[in-house]
Amino acid sequence: MEKLDNLFVMTHPLIQHKISLLRDKNTGTNEFRAIVEEIAMLMGYEALSDLPTEEVEVETPIEKCMTPVISGRKFAVVPILRAGLGMVSGILALVPAAKVGHIGLYRDEETHEPHEYYCKLPDPIDERLIVVTDPMLATGGSAVAAVNFIKEHGGKKIKFMSIIAAPEGIRRLLEAHPDVQLYVGHVDRELNDAAYICPGLGDAGDRIFGTK
Ligand code: PRP
Ligand code: URA
Repeated sequence: MEKLDNLFVMTHPLIQHKISLLRDKNTGTNEFRAIVEEIAMLMGYEALSDLPTEEVEVETPIEKCMTPVISGRKFAVVPILRAGLGMVSGILALVPAAKVGHIGLYRDEETHEPHEYYCKLPDPIDERLIVVTDPMLATGGSAVAAVNFIKEHGGKKIKFMSIIAAPEGIRRLLEAHPDVQLYVGHVDRELNDAAYICPGLGDAGDRIFGTK
């Protein structure tokens, strides 16, 4: 993993291999969905290395001891609907007790600006580490809006996880929210005129859910 201030870029060959499978237009919905989940798990392993733990007493076959466990009460995953949903199961495989919030956003096809249609977050949220998931960080409009909502609801410690990011989106998110730690699987070249990531993988929501 490469780190530049609050930007963490994945370099692990397993993650890069799986991203290549996602890019292939011949990868079908079943496989695409499974690979998104696997990448989320691998990225989650990196992104959750500072997850808070608490000491509990456990009795081993030899003696009692105090030993750390992860508390789901201190962690929440918040997918941006729809495509971010595809990453949730990968994170929950790592932290089954995590709370799950949802933020519904869609991009206007002409302006490319995000519109909110749903927001439900775990309450209270202020003490939790929050990981926002969305496979695509394109213009960054959706990411900035999602982090704005979470902060308006009191969220403070926020990480954002995205599988493919455009340089424009990375800049926009980290300029608007320099305190957010951003984890990306790969940084792609640029956005096209329709604000799609190039080379990217197409429309992540459609490919995960088999729409279109
Ligand atoms: C996609 C993607 C992000 C957003 C990224 O969602 O999942 O949420 O676009 O673009 P941005 O960085 O320019 O905001 P979309 O709006 O297509 O909705 P969907 O997930 O329901 O398909
Ligand atoms: N949303 C997607 O699903 N793909 C892109 O390339 C850009 C935004």
